[in-house]
Amino acid sequence: MFKEDLLKDKTIIVTGGGTGLGKSMAARFGELGANLVIASRREQVIQDAADELRKTGTDVLGLTCDVRDPESVQGMVDAAKKQFGKIDVLLNNAAGNFISPTENLSANGFKAIVDIVLNGTFNCTHAVGKEMINDGGGSILNIVTTYAWTGSGYVVPSAAAKAGVLAITRSLAVEWAKYGIRSNAIAPGPFPTKGAWSRLAPPGLGIEKKMKNRIPLKRFGEHIELANLASYLLSDEAGYINGEVVTIDGGEWLKGAGQFNELERMPKMAWKAMDAMRKKSKKR
Ligand code: HXC
Ligand code: NAP
Repeated sequence: MFKEDLLKDKTIIVTGGGTGLGKSMAARFGELGANLVIASRREQVIQDAADELRKTGTDVLGLTCDVRDPESVQGMVDAAKKQFGKIDVLLNNAAGNFISPTENLSANGFKAIVDIVLNGTFNCTHAVGKEMINDGGGSILNIVTTYAWTGSGYVVPSAAAKAGVLAITRSLAVEWAKYGIRSNAIAPGPFPTKGAWSRLAPPGLGIEKKMKNRIPLKRFGEHIELANLASYLLSDEAGYINGEVVTIDGGEWLKGAGQFNELERMPKMAWKAMDAMRKKSKKR
């Protein structure tokens, strides 16, 4: 659906780019001509992913980086600049999450998630943003969730942190536009990944089935669908999109929001009976 060189010569940093959705998005950016920097904490995971992506002919730098640590983030930025000269795009994708009744959380449990998701996004945005300002612009894309605006029980640290990331996205869309930097976000619904599923949908509880049933399109997202959306949003073709959050969830969150959506369960017979009653009462 895109020109083959849509992202040619763009250098894109993908945090958490060694696994799951980050890796899938990175692979698509590479196919479209980008140079890649993928970074996360686990050396082996990142190097294996970088080797795999290189096989497709993409120029890939795999780096260990802990987004919670500003020094580590600066090291990633310096290495990316050294290798590719400039950074065009930052994809803040790294995250941590788990399900827990909020009353059972420890202060450190809350902090663990907020440190990765909110502080990590700030650290990367701050360090890369300063380079983009010096270099004349760029594009920042943040991966949030639909519960960034609805909130959600049992994932309070993640909901609070993702809401903060959305606020950063919208704030900088205005503040940094003068430097030629666009800030946008994507809010994915459920997309199967080992990282998310192992923590949020443990087998045996029927969570996966319930999740799928809640989605109006009755299926989970496919990685390529998210990767194509991300490719468009960070490309120059989306040059006038700034401060937007694009939902890609098969209609999931709206289904929970619409007061009458549960009527989907009402059988056709019941609708027919209701209609007959309405017509009968009109005749009187
Ligand atoms: C309660 C928990 C917990 C759990 C950890 N903690 N897991 N508390 N329930 N299930 C607590 C610990 O007891 C500890 O507090 C504190 O959190 C830190 O734990 P550590 O294991 O030391 O943390 P750390 O090594 O930093 O690991 C972070 C992590 C881990 C988030 C806990 O799972 C991780 O590395 N995750 C990275 C990848 C990830 O989560 N991917 C999923 C993204 S999916 P105490 O007080 O004991 O010290 C996503 C999707 C959203 O975001 C939407 C889906 C539809
Ligand atoms: P994932 O594979 O677990 O991805 C999380 C990544 O973050 C991992 O590669 C992890 O690598 C990295 N990471 C964690 N802590 C880090 C740190 N301190 N520093 C650097 N990197 C760190 O899960 P995923 O499902 O692909 O999630 C990717 C993104 O999509 C996340 O932002 C998530 O919130 C979002 N999302 C996912 C879904 C879904 O259904 N899958 C839905 C909505 C939103 P290391 O462990 O090597 O550091």
